[in-house]
Amino acid sequence: MLEQRRSTESAFTFVPASPHIGARVMGSSLADVMEAQDQNALADLRDALDTHLILHFSGQTLQPRQIEDLGRHFGPLLSLKRPENKTASHLGDVEFLKIITNALTPDGKPLGDGSNASQDWHTDGAMKPRPATYSYFYARTVPRVPPKTYWMNAYRVYESLPQSVKDKIHDLYVIHHHYTAGNEFPLPPSLPLTEREKGPRHPLVRVHPATGKPILYLPHRRDALVVGYSPEESDELIGYLREFAANSPFWWGTAMQPDDFVIWDNRACLHRRDGWESNEDRIMWHLANEGETPIPLAG
Ligand SMILES: [Fe+2]
Repeated sequence: MLEQRRSTESAFTFVPASPHIGARVMGSSLADVMEAQDQNALADLRDALDTHLILHFSGQTLQPRQIEDLGRHFGPLLSLKRPENKTASHLGDVEFLKIITNALTPDGKPLGDGSNASQDWHTDGAMKPRPATYSYFYARTVPRVPPKTYWMNAYRVYESLPQSVKDKIHDLYVIHHHYTAGNEFPLPPSLPLTEREKGPRHPLVRVHPATGKPILYLPHRRDALVVGYSPEESDELIGYLREFAANSPFWWGTAMQPDDFVIWDNRACLHRRDGWESNEDRIMWHLANEGETPIPLAG
């Protein structure tokens, strides 16, 4: 178990949530820290993210603008707007915070993006050349039995691979899908081969710019193509790695309650989510930072 961490100046205490990943954050409220522009506390959050990868806060009272201000501390915000539903899925008075939900408006239109289906392990924004760095969720409404969200420590997954596999994959690139066919169960048919060839090429092993440590950076579907490999060879390797990760013990999950808030490092974590009853609503506010071009282990 990692040691409980508290610096003498910090507004926060970080209590490890599992031996491998995650911390529950105690102490000051995020709203107070934002109000005070407490730079020490914000720096501590960034350090704690490098250590724990996912931070969980309970009982937060946050305004949309405070969440965006917090996100800006970690870098430029990512526009998640979709042209077809940009009004429905966004809060009115801010630009970047987005609604993720299965709920409908009174006239039967989607209130935001999302569904009640369970999701497979994935990272956010892998279809972009510069995938998101940090992701944020603020729980507003949850079902009677809230679904759990799980995060996987992708440093540990990489570290635990057999050396022969590390040697084989250290300089490989994967073509990630350039639009998602979905990672919700039951998994929909994937993209045709001609589309799978068009996506962004990311290193299979990337290096975190702050920690300098290698991360296994997996595509969200096993049929993603490995550069220089046939589709069959790609499927065999990515299928093996996704299964290896899914069977590894380096994860932690929690069922978010109303007013819970989480931040995670989307570079160093995979995440997935359980489903829930379709007649119950779950409403989350979601934010992300623009990312960096993934840094390859083998430069
Ligand atoms: Fe996600």
